[in-house]
Amino acid sequence: MCPPRFFEVSYVINPWMDPTKPVDTALAMTQWEELRDTYRRLGHTVHEITPEPGLPDMVFAANSGTVIDGRVLGSKFRAPERAAEAEHFRRWFVEQGYRDLRMPTKINEAEGDFAWTGRVLLAGTGFRTDPEAHAEAQESLGVPVVSLRLTDPRYYHLDTALFVLAEETDSTPAQVCYYPEAFSPGTRRVLRRMFPDAVLADEGDASCLGVNGVSDGRNVVLPVEATELGDRLAARGYEPVYVDIAELRKAGGGPKCCTMELRK
Ligand code: ARG
Repeated sequence: MCPPRFFEVSYVINPWMDPTKPVDTALAMTQWEELRDTYRRLGHTVHEITPEPGLPDMVFAANSGTVIDGRVLGSKFRAPERAAEAEHFRRWFVEQGYRDLRMPTKINEAEGDFAWTGRVLLAGTGFRTDPEAHAEAQESLGVPVVSLRLTDPRYYHLDTALFVLAEETDSTPAQVCYYPEAFSPGTRRVLRRMFPDAVLADEGDASCLGVNGVSDGRNVVLPVEATELGDRLAARGYEPVYVDIAELRKAGGGPKCCTMELRK
């Protein structure tokens, strides 16, 4: 995770961002600390990278790397405003001792568009990540990739429209939550085939970035507005855990966007 010390909305690269609306950086920091402390309270280890001045979106760490089995694929941003973030994270991985580290040649916004189910990597495209980055991810990470097409500009990253609730195990299939309307008709059919038991989100769930959740297989961290989705998840045996991320949502990000998962 990356503290939002230099967070602001000073450019527009998604429909959530409006530089004419005020942003409270101190409040963003308090909300982010609450998210970090929530993970720690749930028993997870959190590492922090040092934020850089001039990179207001660096708080959205999910966009800077995909780590599976200790193998890292870095990122390459579509927007020039965010391009420099990738190198800061690359250096962080090197300092932390990650040895199997590759940087992509195609536009690749990492976990913004990649979701690991435990067996396959679901890969979004349509707004940010280049479809050719999907093949590159398959080759670099050595995991099967399934391409999914996003069609609604408000849900510009896969992680705004889909998240994994529980990874696949030897005896249970992966469970996901997604917002069907964010995807093309063909992709909706793919998702129905792959995940017949998925938790389906509606417009209300999606529009507070409720589908930008983070699950450890039991606890599901959600924006505080997403109580209806939380109730449906509770009915499936999950434990909703709410955080207020309203300030960061002004840049189009939720809990997952702030969180890059380091899969050993
Ligand atoms: N302002 C950032 C952008 O548009 C928000 C990124 C949110 N991150 C995410 N994983 N969806 O790039």
